[in-house]
Amino acid sequence: MPMPSSSSLLSAIRRLLASLALSPPPAAAAAMPPSSPEPEEEGMGRSDAGGGGGGEGGGGGGGRALSYGEAEYWDARYVEEGGAPYDWYQRYAALRPFVRRFAPPESRVLMIGCGSALMSEDMVDDGYTEIMNIDISSVVIEIMRKKHFNIPQLQYMQMDARDMSIFSDESFDCAIDKGTLDSLMCGVGAPLSAAQMVLEVERLLKPGGIFMLITYGDPSVRVPHLNQSGCNWKIVLYILPRPGFKGKTKRSVLDPVPMTESGVLQDGFVPEDPDSHYIYVCKKLQGSTGTSSPTIHHVDTQDTAE
Ligand SMILES: C[S@@+](CC[C@H](N)C(=O)[O-])C[C@H]1O[C@@H](n2cnc3c(N)ncnc32)[C@H](O)[C@@H]1O
Repeated sequence: MPMPSSSSLLSAIRRLLASLALSPPPAAAAAMPPSSPEPEEEGMGRSDAGGGGGGEGGGGGGGRALSYGEAEYWDARYVEEGGAPYDWYQRYAALRPFVRRFAPPESRVLMIGCGSALMSEDMVDDGYTEIMNIDISSVVIEIMRKKHFNIPQLQYMQMDARDMSIFSDESFDCAIDKGTLDSLMCGVGAPLSAAQMVLEVERLLKPGGIFMLITYGDPSVRVPHLNQSGCNWKIVLYILPRPGFKGKTKRSVLDPVPMTESGVLQDGFVPEDPDSHYIYVCKKLQGSTGTSSPTIHHVDTQDTAE
């Protein structure tokens, strides 16, 4: 049988994507310089209700659009992109002050839903020595494993963040999620998926370990998921304008943003950039409360989650 040419293979993939009603990644995103990521895409932008191909719930039944919550969506997307590096929301350079502040370079780091982001290799360039990258997409894990075969600090495993039972309890100092919980929020059974993932992260962190969640979700839609029964976090919130935001910010991004006792932004607080990203620095405290009351941390500009 004759082998298809690469262009006919590409057309076949495009036809497959079209028949699955997937929105292919914007050409601009794959070609975009990594330093200026698109902050958000359809369905993972403004709210958990999502939209486009990635809306929460994802539908059910034949012919439906795949959603950001499904491995098939990501596999097809990474095939289409051919492994082009792409960092969602923010690059490491912008996140570095937070990462360095809460996780020293010798930390054993779990990167949840690594995708094709440059984040982990940037961290290695910055001195990090052990980063375990997991992703539900076997396609992207294979691509990244091949790309980084000669960087011993980076390991890759295909895994669902809702079940990381291969790792033993308390085996990581820090877990970082940039956009993965957001993806789960677009899938079927989102609240259950979020609960499973957050409980797994809590289990895998050493006492005092840090879960850094980078998301478009404001506290009203993220604190309830962080605050699972069985978790005992001290949560400190930071807000970072999207890359390229031209407006002025009154405060330093390194200043924690206060939340109320019930875990929402204080009355009258509105981020200057409506498309800001939220960084929840969650420190695992000793023992579980078994309640759903997070320890909300109030403003302390020197806070290091120590
Ligand atoms: C929005 S992308 C973010 C990728 C990367 N963290 C970044 O910052 O660019 C979400 C990633 O989460 C992965 N993902 C989605 N659901 C997952 C799950 N249940 N377990 C592990 N990874 C998942 C996807 O394959 C995708 O690579």
